[in-house]
Amino acid sequence: MKAAIAVLLALCAAATTGLVPIKRQGETEAPKVILDNDWGPTDFILVLMALASPYQILGLTSNTANSWALQCSLHALRSLQLGGLENCIPVHKGTDYPLLNTADLQQSWEYIHGALPWSGAFAPMNMTAEAAGSDPTDGNPNRIVPSSFVDGKAPDLNQLNGTMAAAFMVDMVREYPGEVSIYAAGSFTNIALAIRLDPTFAQNAKELVFMGGYIDTNLLMVTGSANEADINSDINIKIDPEAAKIVLTADWQNITLVGNAANSVFLNQTDLEEIYNVNNSFSQAMMQYFQAYFPLWDATALAVMLEPETVVTNSTDFFVDVDVAWYSPYYGNVRASQQMYAPKGQTLRSVRYPFAVDVERVKELVRDAVMQPGSCEDN
Ligand SMILES: *[C@@H]1O[C@H](CO)[C@@H](O)[C@H](O)[C@H]1NC(C)=O
Ligand SMILES: *[C@@H]1O[C@H](CO)[C@@H](O)[C@H](O)[C@H]1NC(C)=O
Ligand SMILES: *[C@@H]1O[C@H](CO)[C@@H](O)[C@H](O)[C@H]1NC(C)=O
Ligand SMILES: *[C@@H]1O[C@H](CO)[C@@H](O)[C@H](O)[C@H]1NC(C)=O
Ligand SMILES: *[C@@H]1O[C@H](CO)[C@@H](O)[C@H](O)[C@H]1NC(C)=O
Ligand SMILES: *[C@@H]1O[C@H](CO)[C@@H](O)[C@H](O)[C@H]1NC(C)=O
Repeated sequence: MKAAIAVLLALCAAATTGLVPIKRQGETEAPKVILDNDWGPTDFILVLMALASPYQILGLTSNTANSWALQCSLHALRSLQLGGLENCIPVHKGTDYPLLNTADLQQSWEYIHGALPWSGAFAPMNMTAEAAGSDPTDGNPNRIVPSSFVDGKAPDLNQLNGTMAAAFMVDMVREYPGEVSIYAAGSFTNIALAIRLDPTFAQNAKELVFMGGYIDTNLLMVTGSANEADINSDINIKIDPEAAKIVLTADWQNITLVGNAANSVFLNQTDLEEIYNVNNSFSQAMMQYFQAYFPLWDATALAVMLEPETVVTNSTDFFVDVDVAWYSPYYGNVRASQQMYAPKGQTLRSVRYPFAVDVERVKELVRDAVMQPGSCEDN
């Protein structure tokens, strides 16, 4: 309903103003969000959380991080199809490759600086893992692995919206200046492209909220299990450091970096049983695909965006830069500075950084969203 009115308003305005961006801030009530992610089989959690909130989802966009953008866009589509949501929320595929990084470069970097616990789409191809349902890595970005989809079948490519992710983001921010939150839980490639396509993009968005950019987790990567090393390493920024630098130095009104705090949020067996007992299409998919040994990274970042006042219990602000020196062992890591010591030779941005989140509230948002899934009317 909200979407229908918005489209109608856009059409009316377009008819009278031609191609000039339409500024009509305040005419629509719902806060708006674009969810950009390297979507996987259970990331419908994010869609359902946003549907349960006052936010209107303008669209889902995919990027290359855990897997290739195409595979991720199809996970986004399947996520919507589980609840008939593909009729009101478009999916826009993102760009296949990072700005500069390639699988060869990343594998060479790992040869010099040490293997990453998880290399995302640039992990060497593993056909055994793919046959068992893992998303594709390395090789051809157009490869689709049907066994990784809920129901074992990949959705129809033709149901993806033909507008590329970056162009869609630019269009939406022009249509609703000051109103669109950009939520980012994968690589920054699409958002960097949007910023370069339209120099007013970052300034005219409402905010950027993203998952990634851990600070000082090196020790945690060497004193625990392999899973702990994985949990404390980050592929989102690391797979496209140059894009991350473009995005994190752009003139956003507001940036929230959700990093380390998300690592303490897990669903436990009690939570999962409560969800499974409901037995809807989403909980069935969770039963099959949810990886409870990983924190609720993306859901925590989204919860921070949806309910900043209640979810963030302690936060600070600092300036961030991204290491883009390929030779550096910290290539693709963020570096934080307080104002007093922030670099003078370049303009960095201040980000809001939650030290801690209300774990119970985040889990409640996730459980409620999956147990009482919203429909197109809620968008
Ligand atoms: C490939 O994936 C399988 C199944 O997940 C795993 O056991 C194996 O170690 C992987 N091979 C390599 C070279 O990583
Ligand atoms: C693609 O998405 C745009 C923006 O939401 C929309 O205007 C357009 O109608 C969509 N195209 C198709 C074929 O659905
Ligand atoms: C930035 O976002 C935070 C959290 O939502 C909010 O408290 C703050 O007022 C915002 N700042 C601006 C300048 O919009
Ligand atoms: C799981 O978490 C819930 C609430 O967060 C708690 O009440 C419950 O006792 C926990 N269950 C287990 C098995 O730890
Ligand atoms: C869940 O529902 C499906 C039908 O949609 C049914 O086949 C299955 O047995 C149910 N599972 C449980 C645990 O109730
Ligand atoms: C917030 O977290 C910081 C860093 O862990 C800590 O130093 C500070 O005491 C915390 N503040 C509150 C009010 O808990």
